[in-house]
Amino acid sequence: MKKFAVFVSGSGTNLQAIIDAVNRKEIPGQIALVVSDNPSAYAVVRAKNAGIETFVFNPKDYNSRQDYEKIIVGELEKRSVDFIVLAGFMRVLTPFFIRKYKNKILNIHPALLPSFPGAHGVRDALNYGVKVTGVTVHFVDEGVDTGPIIFQEPERVRDDDTEESLHQRLHKIEYRIYPLAIKLFIEDRLVIEGRKVKVKGGEDEN
Ligand code: GRF
Repeated sequence: MKKFAVFVSGSGTNLQAIIDAVNRKEIPGQIALVVSDNPSAYAVVRAKNAGIETFVFNPKDYNSRQDYEKIIVGELEKRSVDFIVLAGFMRVLTPFFIRKYKNKILNIHPALLPSFPGAHGVRDALNYGVKVTGVTVHFVDEGVDTGPIIFQEPERVRDDDTEESLHQRLHKIEYRIYPLAIKLFIEDRLVIEGRKVKVKGGEDEN
């Protein structure tokens, strides 16, 4: 059974969707560790409620990003973690960490990349006035939200949308496509060819 870690910073509703999918055996893997840079993240409570080990750190206690990343790598290796799922983790990982887990880090972003990367994908899309936005699941490379795309799903923006109402609909998409991407990754069915990701066996999010 493949083991993975989920990195979180906030409320952790995606973490919850992943925990639920593991419990329903839709994801054939085990969450060995939840890592958080935010001691008061509700995601940490969700992990504890599910009986999952947590590693919580405060970035301010370290001189550099690489200093805490080295500790995280130690925690991951201790538990033989095979790959990493970022679910609302608000820190940029350094090349040191990304190279260590090359093509083994997944991320979800609440916009259709390469549009609106960064921390405020929903707000930025809304302020720009786009009529369609969406969700992207992608591999993490050394850039910010630039890695090969696994899934994208569009969502229409409504005239009366607020950041909250739009994010709520995007979340619903996230809870469906992220567990599926994790399952396909575990089954070795995501093949990266340059910037493109092909799904072996043809299954996609539909
Ligand atoms: C999600 O919208 C995800 O796309 C983004 O951060 C948000 C995390 O939400 N990267 P939650 O903590 O899973 O509720």
